[in-house]
Amino acid sequence: GATMLASAVFGATAASALTVGFSQIGSESGWRAAETTVTKQEAERRGIDLKFADAQQKQENQIKALRSFIAQGVDAILLAPVVETGWESVLEEAKDAEIPVILLDRTVSASDDLYLTAVTSDLVHEGRVAGQWLVENVGDRACNIVELQGTTGSSPAIARKKGFEEAIAGHDNLKIIRSQTGDFTRTKGKEVMESFLKAENGGANICALYAHNDDMALGAIQAIKEAGLKPGEDILVVSIDAVPDIFKALDAGEANATVELTPNMAGPAFDALEAYLNDGVVPPKWIQTESKLYTQADDPMKVYEEKKNLGY
Ligand code: AHR
Repeated sequence: GATMLASAVFGATAASALTVGFSQIGSESGWRAAETTVTKQEAERRGIDLKFADAQQKQENQIKALRSFIAQGVDAILLAPVVETGWESVLEEAKDAEIPVILLDRTVSASDDLYLTAVTSDLVHEGRVAGQWLVENVGDRACNIVELQGTTGSSPAIARKKGFEEAIAGHDNLKIIRSQTGDFTRTKGKEVMESFLKAENGGANICALYAHNDDMALGAIQAIKEAGLKPGEDILVVSIDAVPDIFKALDAGEANATVELTPNMAGPAFDALEAYLNDGVVPPKWIQTESKLYTQADDPMKVYEEKKNLGY
């Protein structure tokens, strides 16, 4: 019937269009918004019908979205899981319905036979790179660090904390004196930094800020300036993501280093999915994206210009 007519018109080689549900966390950061943009662009480029659901930071909304995708009988599901735990039941339901699930940018603590593959960076490594940068740039002087953590219970918050602590371990002059969540947002980053500054003698006791993402760092930079200190000098600033605005801050000398996270998780995810569905190629359980360190020495405004074309 209709299918035969379609293949007669479009040629027998055209695979039927895939329908993919995407449960996104929300739009807490510039990086997250870019990931959404890139995912939509990648889907369109490949003729994939993308059903997009924004969970507004709530796991229960993500679980609802997944159940609705399963009920609609989508061909596959992309899931950016807000937190690590609590996914077993819904992932079992997808598995029973034979709908492959691909994790995007964050991991879950469930058994890995509940999903096809995970496209993420090495989140622990990112924390290590950030910590290593501080170790190398602080030298022998005593350095009190304040930490802005990502969303509580999320894999990047857990892993980036762990990696950073590993990197500074054994360097007794480096000490984390305060650590609190800023939920990966600019507003919260600023708010929490204000409280750190107040509690630490107006900032005089603070030597460095480690933020689990650039947006929190950018909010904190604002707070540091309002407290009459120079971010990047009086308080060193190191963070993760490499969003365009952090390159402006690097250029202005107000940030010191960032570890890049690509917003293009969907490209590798769709490649793996198409190979799996069309040719039966089973992907590895982890498809790792690159992490790269940028500092003030890396021509920040040039990178800023390049970044603006990548979904930002
Ligand atoms: O999971 C990746 C993290 O989530 C990004 O580093 C952060 O900006 C986002 O909110």
